Amino acid sequence: MAILAANWKMYKTIAEASAWCEVVQRSPWLDRAEVLVFPPLTALSALRRDGLRLGLGAQDVGWAEQGAFTGMVSAAQLRDAGCAYALVAHSERRRYACEDDRMAARKIAALWQAGLTPVYCVGEDASERDAGRGPRRLAQQVDTVLGELRGEMAGRLIIAYEPVWAIGSGSPATPAQACEAAGLIRERIAAACGAAALARIALLYGGSTSPASAAGFMAEPLIDGLLVGSASLDPASFLAMLEVMVHA
Ligand code: PGA
Repeated sequence: MAILAANWKMYKTIAEASAWCEVVQRSPWLDRAEVLVFPPLTALSALRRDGLRLGLGAQDVGWAEQGAFTGMVSAAQLRDAGCAYALVAHSERRRYACEDDRMAARKIAALWQAGLTPVYCVGEDASERDAGRGPRRLAQQVDTVLGELRGEMAGRLIIAYEPVWAIGSGSPATPAQACEAAGLIRERIAAACGAAALARIALLYGGSTSPASAAGFMAEPLIDGLLVGSASLDPASFLAMLEVMVHA
């Protein structure tokens, strides 16, 4: 089943989050795709209380199990708040919170330990792309985390290819570019973990997707779904993407 994920970043009050869910949950297409929402932490409990029927996730997670880590929220605490997923190493976390691949690997291990599914974000920035170092950067990002992967975890890993130059720019990568990156990611997984693991890891594209561009990505057999930022904030445009997806 295709995956459609909404990353709200630092947008929406609790009331706005509940109103969004009320609209989205009226969609007749909900059971035809795996729909996930990553609200701000403040809205997690309210959405759960409202009887959310979508997959619930956090936008980040602490790498430690518990302890004196002011400001961190652990994977077990996220599970306690109703989360089954968490984004890891989103490019904005890499940029503003200095997260690197090794930190991402620790966070992924913490999520697995607590029974959550990480959505690991990878992607090259514009300077890496322009210098022809995009594929190498991508391989590095993927390989670091695959070192943590044990066979049974493969069914609990989602990788989102989000080229930094496309996020929030209004210009998505082309489906062909996304497909090339997806091919490379899949090669690394197959080489490190084998074909069985590869079949169980879902791969998303993210970066300026919209109802207009969704069909192009979903037509690519190597892409299992979309991670949507700005176009997910308005329930109507998010639902338009869901509709495209279930008809792809
Ligand atoms: P965007 O964000 O769709 O607004 O580009 C995607 C993301 O950051 O996950």
